[in-house]
Amino acid sequence: MAKRLDLNQLLPAESPYLAAMSAAAKDKLSAAWRSPSNIAIVKYWGKHGEQMADNPSLSITLSEAYTETSVTCRPQSTPGDPEVQFLFDGQPQPHFEKRIIGYVSRLRSELPFLTGCVLEIASGNAFPHSAGIASSASAMSALALCLLEIQYAFDGRTRDAHFFREVSRLARLGSGSACRSLYGPVCLWGEVSSVPGSSAEIAVPIQDIHPVFATMQDCILIIDDGQKEVSSSAGHTLMREHLFRDARIAQAHRHLDVLLPAMRTGDLETFGAIAEAEALTLHALMMTSDPSYVLMRANTLEAIRRIRAFRGEHALPLYFTLDAGPNVHVLYPLSSADRVVLFIRDALRPLCVDRKMIVDRAGTGPVRVDG
Ligand code: DP6
Repeated sequence: MAKRLDLNQLLPAESPYLAAMSAAAKDKLSAAWRSPSNIAIVKYWGKHGEQMADNPSLSITLSEAYTETSVTCRPQSTPGDPEVQFLFDGQPQPHFEKRIIGYVSRLRSELPFLTGCVLEIASGNAFPHSAGIASSASAMSALALCLLEIQYAFDGRTRDAHFFREVSRLARLGSGSACRSLYGPVCLWGEVSSVPGSSAEIAVPIQDIHPVFATMQDCILIIDDGQKEVSSSAGHTLMREHLFRDARIAQAHRHLDVLLPAMRTGDLETFGAIAEAEALTLHALMMTSDPSYVLMRANTLEAIRRIRAFRGEHALPLYFTLDAGPNVHVLYPLSSADRVVLFIRDALRPLCVDRKMIVDRAGTGPVRVDG
């Protein structure tokens, strides 16, 4: 993992930070975090302004699908715009590097240590690179954690409850869904009157969730592992002029009004009905945008059909959701795992590309991995 560096060796004497820095911060020029992805039950779809969501969203934090990122900071010979050197699984990744450079320069005014700094960023995902799984939530939250950790060290501050709130806000600026990866097992982003402290700027953990959701299982069926034809960012943009925009925003609020009490009481049926309605709404919005597009594949629909048929036949609580892609998340409580796992193996796995699946479950949020 990230090497610890001696600040005195690295910062030029004229650095504005050297004098101001506390002794405690001197071994903290690097940080490394593991941060999970999350699966939205009520979907964030459509945004405005500085990464502000058009509607509130709620997600389950995952456990096995995570990104590990380390950031090491060293001074530039002539202090100026931050420089970024980015490696993904040890290799250059120009596409994501470009996004990170944009993100880092956007954070310059928020994180003063970035000015005059060369950032060496090394990142890797726990899930296969070619799984077709969107990784911006885990990647951007892991990066935001590292960057704020280093800023705190420069400022001589220790991590407190405020730290994660601030990271959530910074992560949101990198990718909206990333702000919901900071806490487990369930996070809400957006202002909802029934949740005190909920906010449009950051995600907050939902505290009083029924235990059945803290151990919720999520088996991700990799129906297609190719690059998506239309990115989520482009999809959000298409919502600006969408004919159903207002109705969608109202629907997300209504869904949360019903979902939050259901998740407190452990009402799986209501949870499942909303998860599925949200998934289908998301894709219906894509199909009815201008221009329209379809990200589901034939096997996405076949998996949905089989899940619903199995549920009807066996009266088991097993539901699906989709993110902005063809892959299917199969959600079920731990108590049904024995029977559901057999069904997944026999009826759903053959629908996956190269039989690829990721077996995941609700998780507890990020962990620091450098000591
Ligand atoms: C369908 O967070 O990936 O997964 O803010 O442009 O980075 P940007 O978008 P992103 O959108 C996620 C969309 C979604 C729903 C959700 O996670 O809530």
